[in-house]
Amino acid sequence: MVNKIFALILLLFVFIACNQNNNSDTVSTDQAKKDSLANCSINPNGQSELAELMRQMQGHINSIRDAAIAGTMSGDMPEFLNTIYTAKPTDSTMVDSEFDSRADEYLAAVKDLYHRYPESQKIAFNTVISKCQSCHEHYCPGPLVVIKKMYIPL
Ligand code: HEC
Repeated sequence: MVNKIFALILLLFVFIACNQNNNSDTVSTDQAKKDSLANCSINPNGQSELAELMRQMQGHINSIRDAAIAGTMSGDMPEFLNTIYTAKPTDSTMVDSEFDSRADEYLAAVKDLYHRYPESQKIAFNTVISKCQSCHEHYCPGPLVVIKKMYIPL
């Protein structure tokens, strides 16, 4: 009898422990998702090719912002931006079948910016930022705070 009660209590503990485990599993999945979004926002150690490229894209945009404001954009879009199609992401689930068409839109907007008349370069610049924004709304909202500050006030 004592043994049976003991077994029952043991079973109860196992049951409770399992339940708790289940709960913490969901929590850690949520946490992993959050971490991945946070990583996407500021990822100084981000070693993925795509994260590295994104930092270069951010640098590129910052470097041409003044020229777009002044309407003195010239030359051609830098070649390195084309690697957006092949750069490997941190997490392959970040990138789905729509990624390439979103990348197309972004690159088309950058090319357009390089070939605009001076007076419409600000608008064309903001179109580029809107492509950063829409892609990030879809894949990783982390950097949106930074991206939204890039728009040129009109
Ligand atoms: C086609 C979709 C797409 C476009 C367009 C895009 N991004 Fe990203 N961006 C991503 C994805 C996906 C990641 C996550 C990359 C990874 O972690 O491997 C990312 C990551 C980032 C990061 C974090 C990099 C790091 O250190 O981990 C920044 C900052 C960023 N993007 C800024 C920008 C800016 C600025 C633009 C526009 C000039 C832009 N992105 C355009 C999809 C996009």
